[in-house]
Amino acid sequence: MFETLPKPRPDGIIALMQAYAADPRMGKIDLGVGVYRDAAGRTPVMQAVKQAEAHIIETQNSKSYLSLAGDSAFLEVMERLLLGGAVPSGRVAAVGTPGGTAAVRQICELIRLARPDAVIWVSAQTWPNHAPLIAAAGLEMRQYRYLEAESGALDRAGLFADLGQAGAGDVVLLHGCCHNPTGVDLAEGDWAELAGMLERAGAVPFIDMAYQGLGEGLDADAGGLRHLAARLPEILVAASCSKNFGLYRDRVGLAMTITPEARRDIMAANLAGLNRKSFAFPPDHGGRVVSTILNDPALRHNWQAELEAMRRRVVQNRADLARALRAALGTDRFGFIAAQRGMFSLLPLPGTQIERLRADHGIYMLGDGRVNMAGLNDQTVAVLAEAIAKTV
Ligand SMILES: Cc1ncc(COP(=O)(O)O)c(C=O)c1O
Repeated sequence: MFETLPKPRPDGIIALMQAYAADPRMGKIDLGVGVYRDAAGRTPVMQAVKQAEAHIIETQNSKSYLSLAGDSAFLEVMERLLLGGAVPSGRVAAVGTPGGTAAVRQICELIRLARPDAVIWVSAQTWPNHAPLIAAAGLEMRQYRYLEAESGALDRAGLFADLGQAGAGDVVLLHGCCHNPTGVDLAEGDWAELAGMLERAGAVPFIDMAYQGLGEGLDADAGGLRHLAARLPEILVAASCSKNFGLYRDRVGLAMTITPEARRDIMAANLAGLNRKSFAFPPDHGGRVVSTILNDPALRHNWQAELEAMRRRVVQNRADLARALRAALGTDRFGFIAAQRGMFSLLPLPGTQIERLRADHGIYMLGDGRVNMAGLNDQTVAVLAEAIAKTV
């Protein structure tokens, strides 16, 4: 029966990970895969996570099923972390999901249930998995302009011109912070202008929040989401704890809707129903780690300090790389790297140069020039800058 099965197109990130692993060179540098790394190149388990896990092992006395929405304590702490009280809880419905990926998928499924012909607007540069997830849910996708590639700044005029065409019932997917892959986020004024535009059009924002705390800080990174939530009647949210809690493989995320109170229960029931039809119960362990940390003042303090150190390291790597490139190339062409936020930037390099960086220098970045800023350290910043200068 499976002879008709097509060969799937290889996933660029997974293929790059495999090529890197197979490269025998000592000095190879992995700037591809999107995980945080410390100065020694490790992706450590956070201290607060270790302590919360020890506490859970000590005290947990059942692993029986919970509800389809998952652990209510996890959903409550995440509502506070994301929304900071910007809307009354009576407007919020949420369910746990296996990571932010499944949260995006479940929100797309929810959109399809409500409106199978909905159009979802996605930034021209985006996380490579957005389009496949949207297509898998059978939704129509349109792109809006986002990045001015050479200046590395927001294409504000393009974005507002394109989203000006979004109509009633359209959905606009936005990265809450640390836009992947550009590192370019909306400023406060942009969020306000966008809120007005969506409000007038009757379009619904869908916020993908995968890096809260790694851009400008925990509250600042949620500023856009909170502004929209306080102003618009309906918001969709997919959130991930993979990066800010370092819980990648535990698969911790949630799908959330913010609606008028009268519609909250039906949203919750539909989200639970979607979970039932895909994986039934969301994974519990990672979410329990998150609620244990956020409900314990000492653990929370410890987690926030470690997250802030991670954030600062990325900001420092950005400043160091911008400076090293200025010195190596004698131009400020890459100055935007220091102004951008989050783990990623797109280096506007031709494909042939990206190939040579890999072949001649063992430096791995994605084919579109996406670089993981957390993958650099004091030594490799200079190596990368010099290799870019040599391959121009
Ligand atoms: C923009 C964005 N959304 C969602 C995710 C999903 O992350 P996960 O499924 O690992 O929680 C990622 C991960 O890289 C991401 O960059």
